[in-house]
Amino acid sequence: MKLVTRKMRLIVAAVALGGFTAGAQAVSAGDAAAGEGKAGLCGGCHGFDGNSEDATYPRLAGQYAGYIVKQVKDFQKGHRSNNDTMAGMAAMVGSDEDAKDIGAFYAVQKMKGSLSKPDKKIVAAGEKLFREGNAKSGVYGCINCHGEKGKGKSESVSTFPVIGGQHRDYLVKQLTEFRDGIRANDPAGMMAGIAKKMTDQEIKAVAEYLSAQL
Ligand code: HEC
Ligand code: HEC
Repeated sequence: MKLVTRKMRLIVAAVALGGFTAGAQAVSAGDAAAGEGKAGLCGGCHGFDGNSEDATYPRLAGQYAGYIVKQVKDFQKGHRSNNDTMAGMAAMVGSDEDAKDIGAFYAVQKMKGSLSKPDKKIVAAGEKLFREGNAKSGVYGCINCHGEKGKGKSESVSTFPVIGGQHRDYLVKQLTEFRDGIRANDPAGMMAGIAKKMTDQEIKAVAEYLSAQL
């Protein structure tokens, strides 16, 4: 367990030093105004301002541009193969510049309130897991990578996405898919390593907590 935690710390430190963020500079050059028009194609599912009203479609409002660009590219290259609909949509993003502009547009949108009402009985357990992890099973606290309230750290470490305020059911789907190997585009297997140690109940609890964070 100790070893696992130490390995995680090393990974986080490497990311913070720029190990995984090559290209972050270029990403920040996206043009949000140009992105608004280009995102028209995406709004039907993700909401015109990135606040989708259906948990099938993740919220993109307030997400880091660099993370959005990475996901679009991962869908294009087949590295993220957990959704055919989105793979088809990503194929329609014609250039890196378009992806960056769209990312820049969503990054400056404000996230709206949650669709689901948090289940008060398990929200506290979810917050505890988020902050402290689970020493027994070796789950590393989410806060170490995803920041306070799951709001991420900064655009310069967009490797770690905003997850606070995301739809509950979308969060459950992603965590389950990381655990089961259906989604496997996480750098250094960081999320799979964690999700594999989580129980269904822990996944549900942490998703309840996170979806309520605005
Ligand atoms: C027909 C519906 C649809 C359209 C249109 C669509 N998407 Fe998606 N998108 C999805 C679905 C569904 C997912 C979630 C996949 C999953 O369950 O993992 C998704 C996921 C994403 C993600 C990953 C978000 C995250 O938090 O990891 C990004 C980024 C994204 N879409 C960007 C776009 C962009 C950019 C466009 C426009 C070019 C677009 N999408 C158009 C359905 C759509
Ligand atoms: C060691 C760092 C690290 C820790 C700790 C960590 N994550 Fe992550 N997480 C990541 C990275 C990196 C990604 C982005 C994966 C990618 O690029 O596709 C991610 C992605 C995610 C996603 C997908 C987001 C989306 O929009 O699709 C969810 C959900 C998530 N993490 C939840 C959690 C939860 C819950 C915990 C705690 C139990 C946690 N993470 C702990 C590094 C971490």
